[in-house]
Amino acid sequence: MIRREADKKVLFILGGTGDLSKRKLYPVLNSLLEKGKLGDLLKVYALGRTKGDLEEHVKNLDHLRKILEYHRFDVTNREDYNFLAEEIEKFKDTELIFYLALPPQLFEVAVVNLGSLLRKFPNPRKIVVEKPFGFDLESARRLNFQLKRYFTEEEIYRIDHFLGKVAVQNILSVRFSNYIFEGIWNKNFIDHIQISALETVGLEGRASYYDRVGALRDMIQNHLLQILCFLAMEPPAVMEAERVRDEKVKVLASIRRFSEEDVDKVAVRGRYKGYLEELGKPSNTETYAAIKLYIDNFRWEGVPFYLRTGKRLKEKKTQAIIVFKEVPGNFHRMLGCKPAQNKLVFEIAPKNRVRFLFEMTPPENFLACPVERSMEMDLSPEGAPEAYETLLEDIFQGNQTLFIREDESELAWEIIEPIIKAWKEKEQVPEYEPGSYGPQEAEEFIKRDGRRWLYL
Ligand code: BG6
Repeated sequence: MIRREADKKVLFILGGTGDLSKRKLYPVLNSLLEKGKLGDLLKVYALGRTKGDLEEHVKNLDHLRKILEYHRFDVTNREDYNFLAEEIEKFKDTELIFYLALPPQLFEVAVVNLGSLLRKFPNPRKIVVEKPFGFDLESARRLNFQLKRYFTEEEIYRIDHFLGKVAVQNILSVRFSNYIFEGIWNKNFIDHIQISALETVGLEGRASYYDRVGALRDMIQNHLLQILCFLAMEPPAVMEAERVRDEKVKVLASIRRFSEEDVDKVAVRGRYKGYLEELGKPSNTETYAAIKLYIDNFRWEGVPFYLRTGKRLKEKKTQAIIVFKEVPGNFHRMLGCKPAQNKLVFEIAPKNRVRFLFEMTPPENFLACPVERSMEMDLSPEGAPEAYETLLEDIFQGNQTLFIREDESELAWEIIEPIIKAWKEKEQVPEYEPGSYGPQEAEEFIKRDGRRWLYL
């Protein structure tokens, strides 16, 4: 059923007293309201079981406070939805936006309860779902099935906040609005690609969530695979949501599948020392994961994509590095030097910038080995908008380009499913020192291919 868009909107945040709402959503909503970017937003409902320190968090958010209302609400309790029905009655000709800022195990029950409630109302609606969409392929399919029972795909916004980051969006601009790179953006010129999200933080008070999820599901299944899609996709026929997402789906569908028996060849994991003590119970959850993928299509056949992420590492560094092939050695052989490999770096953290590393002769000596120099473009000299700011604005405007479609989310699970299964069976998780760059096994993993992890 196609429902009309409406200028007037009301936002219901389920999980409205949780961490995500307090730390990210409220400040961002406040800033968007201040800039007048949310149109006619009449009210924001913060729905949660206890109010906690919500007041404290919003006390300086003047624009939001004017329209924010807390209500006690338990998503698992049917009766609480009667209250929602009464509130919705008040908003004729108004678009209803439901934001599920909930622990993943509550998504399904919330979708079903909300969905059946909304059947009674003609209002245009949107539902926003935070990651992770499920725990594995089966639960993702179940969640999508429930969502589609009550909402159309045009009404569903599956968020991956990495797609709201300027450096990630610039991957498409660098590739598709310049001639120089796209011509060499393929297996003939690119040796391999590294996508890393290294973090210094540990559990950050999210132990119960994190221990159920681990590094592979928390970061690789979504954020890093999304970056891979942007790097590897073909130019979309037109720059609109469906066509962009079609191209990402083609990439995911072309990723070479592997069996559970082959997992040791394509993935390694690790856990920082002290994790079990912090957690206070036995666990074989990984806090570090690295995987190698191949995309079997004309553009990418034979080019490995290495993806890695970890907690409590030496530094916060999120970047995608395109490593070009060694140049033919004539020039270097003559000088007795190692042939160069140019690199293009999309740096997402700590800075938002694009860097191109190429070789130059040192000024003092023409016959010396060329040295690597960096050409840098700062993507946000005045400070980038917070990723959530871009995404929330898109939700209000109804632009789904930067949101994950049903088929994308399931394909991404399908790819990592054998790793999830293989790791679940194994007790032994290699350990690494907090403050290091991860387990020794990860160094050996890439070394076997004659390569090394880069820190640029
Ligand atoms: C979240 C993960 O999605 O992304 C966290 O659940 C992680 O574990 C975070 O720390 C990293 O995001 P950012 O934007 O801080 O790099």
